[in-house]
Amino acid sequence: MFGRLFPGLPPFAEDTADTRARLLELGKPGGVMNPGDDAAGAPPLLNPDNPDPRLVAGFTFLGQFIDHDLTFDLTSRLDRQTAATLVENGRTPVFELDNLYGAGPVAHSFLYADNGGDPTVPAKFLIDAAAPWDVPRNSQNKAIIADPRNDENVIVSQFHFAFMRFHNAVVDRLVAEKKLPPQDIFKKAQQLVRWHYQWIVLHEYLPLIAGEEIVHSLLQVQLGPNPRRFIPVEFSVAAFRFGHSQVRTAYSLNPDFLVVPVFIAAIPAANPDPFDLRGGKRAPRRRVEWDRFFLFKGGDPSRIQQSKRIDTILSGPLFGLPSGPGIPQNFVSLAQRNLLRGLALKLPSGQGMARVLKVPVLSPRDLQDVKSLGFDRQTPPWFYILREAQVFGEGKRLGPVGAHIVAQVFTNLLRRDPDSFLSEQPNWKPTLTSNGKFGMADLLTIAGLAPPPRS
Ligand code: HEM
Repeated sequence: MFGRLFPGLPPFAEDTADTRARLLELGKPGGVMNPGDDAAGAPPLLNPDNPDPRLVAGFTFLGQFIDHDLTFDLTSRLDRQTAATLVENGRTPVFELDNLYGAGPVAHSFLYADNGGDPTVPAKFLIDAAAPWDVPRNSQNKAIIADPRNDENVIVSQFHFAFMRFHNAVVDRLVAEKKLPPQDIFKKAQQLVRWHYQWIVLHEYLPLIAGEEIVHSLLQVQLGPNPRRFIPVEFSVAAFRFGHSQVRTAYSLNPDFLVVPVFIAAIPAANPDPFDLRGGKRAPRRRVEWDRFFLFKGGDPSRIQQSKRIDTILSGPLFGLPSGPGIPQNFVSLAQRNLLRGLALKLPSGQGMARVLKVPVLSPRDLQDVKSLGFDRQTPPWFYILREAQVFGEGKRLGPVGAHIVAQVFTNLLRRDPDSFLSEQPNWKPTLTSNGKFGMADLLTIAGLAPPPRS
């Protein structure tokens, strides 16, 4: 079940027809959050790149992938309020990649390659030889993976694929080393994959989005007695949905698939290879070249795409989600969904959270554009967190409330997990590289997905 970080704060608004109408107005296509961007291409002034050169586009999808490791709201409804503690989380609140491993090779054997019943062959993910760039799919193109949301768009889908290959490569290394009995190799590979992923989360991703200082200071805070581990709704429904603002209007995947809009809802679902980035499709031109998303050593910086700047503007395609894996169809504006979900889960206002955290509070002047909707003093927390990123973080990274919530949840989850590297071996350093450093480019290299060396 989910829980709350600020149980003492009242909801940002009462659940009335008027509040709902104002939220729908705020998140509507063509509204405050979508001034004129369309699926064909972003006007540069409205939808600029993140000014921090390190915040490359790949980190947006790492964020989405992390979210799918931590939270899956299976029960709350948009049309009525629910207590957070009654909402079931379909994911464990642990950085353990249950979205990748499912319940493991015994219970979810369909995710793994057949070992012919030989227990001495360590479990590897099933890679489809007919499409060695894609997750495995059934005859209706449904992805055979542990979380359908990881096939919501082609980039997160191939992110999942990269993690499958990473696991397989780590198994191969351990087999070649011949140090462990074969029946111990899967567990060891899984631990190495998880720890290297946790390292990336803590040392590469979190400092980029929240800032080094807060991560460092939260790691020093004394942990209280071990309470129930849970994901707070202030994180899953507001702060960590900041990533929706990082999504660009369009991405280039490879030379045959350039400047492709994220979604064009008007393209029929049956189209086997639409000119958009929806998931659930398999065609060779949809193959992601990762050096367009992450900076590799010796890579060509001119190919790199940045994340979009973090602000209260969402890219046009997110106001008209097509039906597809992980996309429910009753509201097609992601902004409206996020805002209504915040009301349904009785989230406090951004200002209320800022005061409790004793961090700078946005003034009504910073929120002039939502004054007519009555949200300049009691602001829906998701909108507030995006606006403070703009005002306090230049749109590069999260502002004080967002950074605090995300960094606190991440560091607490890692510190309270008895199996994380932080708990088991606090001084552990990555072992899959020789210099003790590890980032997404290393993971993709080990997965065999690095770009070929430039001639
Ligand atoms: C193209 C990219 C993305 C699409 C289309 C997308 C779409 C969605 C949709 C449809 C939902 C359910 C909304 C609701 O009904 O309340 C959702 C939830 C969520 N998204 Fe995204 N998302 C994207 C990227 C991201 C990124 C980059 C992040 C974070 C860095 C993120 C974080 C979340 C979180 C935390 C939830 C709540 C999950 C839960 O608890 O069930 N998303 N997203």
